[in-house]
Amino acid sequence: MKDHPLQKFIPQVEPYITDAERKKVDEYMRSGGWLTEHEKTREFERSIAEFVGSKYAVVVTSGTVALYLALLACGMKSGQSVVVPDYTMIATPNSVKWAGADVILTDVQRQTLCLDLSEVKLKPNTRALMYVSMNGRADKLNEVVEFCHAKGLTLIEDAAQSLASKWRGKYLGTFGDAGVYSFTPHKIITTGQGGAVVTNDKEIYEKVSSLKDFSRVTPGVDTHTGMGFNFKFTDLQAVIGLEQLRKINFRMKSRRDIYRWYREELSDVRSVEFLETDLEEVIPWFADVLLSVPREAVASSLKEHGIGSRPFYPPIHTQIPYAQSDSGFSVTTEVCPRGLWLPSSIGLSHGQVVNISRSIKRVIRKLEH
Ligand SMILES: Cc1ncc(COP(=O)(O)O)c(C=O)c1O
Repeated sequence: MKDHPLQKFIPQVEPYITDAERKKVDEYMRSGGWLTEHEKTREFERSIAEFVGSKYAVVVTSGTVALYLALLACGMKSGQSVVVPDYTMIATPNSVKWAGADVILTDVQRQTLCLDLSEVKLKPNTRALMYVSMNGRADKLNEVVEFCHAKGLTLIEDAAQSLASKWRGKYLGTFGDAGVYSFTPHKIITTGQGGAVVTNDKEIYEKVSSLKDFSRVTPGVDTHTGMGFNFKFTDLQAVIGLEQLRKINFRMKSRRDIYRWYREELSDVRSVEFLETDLEEVIPWFADVLLSVPREAVASSLKEHGIGSRPFYPPIHTQIPYAQSDSGFSVTTEVCPRGLWLPSSIGLSHGQVVNISRSIKRVIRKLEH
């Protein structure tokens, strides 16, 4: 930081990998495993399913691929449309387009930044709704489930950011026909790249498992029931994922602590807004704040002080492939340009968060005047 020139730059996020993972990888490499997916991958899948309480889990190469395969397994195809929130990572609508369906962008609730059910406008060809639990938050999932049931829609939960977060005591990702998690380095557990589909539906499970393996009738048999892909995982990643899942309580606690510490340090700053967040249920992947001073000025000033940050995703309706007017998107239009993700790496200490918060306060106070 500027005040401490020898201090290392604090990135907005970096992966938390320990000697335990390194040891497991070494053990695996010495065991003669083929690196590709096999027994360790099956064990990782069973562990994910057991952790969230779903019947089945299938791991694939990324969260995006998990969304795509979940959509295909649920029968999504061209000529159909899918409801997607306007605040999400671009992977969510892209997966719908990959599946050949159209995207119906919908505004989000101001409190959770998740899909606002009252804003949903179905078309005659709408077949599915994707609920994205942004930053581990969700609300009224019982109503979402009932709505989908009443309208005959498939519910796919994009819980890419939300493994281990809950709504009313039940894990996010387990409310719909299928749920998806991502394991990139920002997430609660990481295998570098990687994603999972969880479901209680045997047919969806079998379809995703087959699609990711060239649509083979049985693994290892070169007879194919349709167009398939190679979206298989690797045992090398699975050993890392398994070790992190074993330590997930520590990882969850760290993310919760970081959020709480920022809230304690910054909640009296006039230009900083925290969204209502119940840390009993929400494990924030990132500490997120809404600023009422110019965000880019805050971010660049923090960078000069050796602190990384990252702006929220822009609303999907402002991205070139989905461009449309702001009309109907009052929440995302207001919130996204003001949102900033603060340093949130697992393992950040209380002292670091206090120091970062001090810098944030100094930067913001200057901008307030
Ligand atoms: C909400 C959401 N959906 C999907 C994805 C895509 O996951 P992946 O990067 O593993 O493909 C992400 C990644 O951050 C995400 O945040």
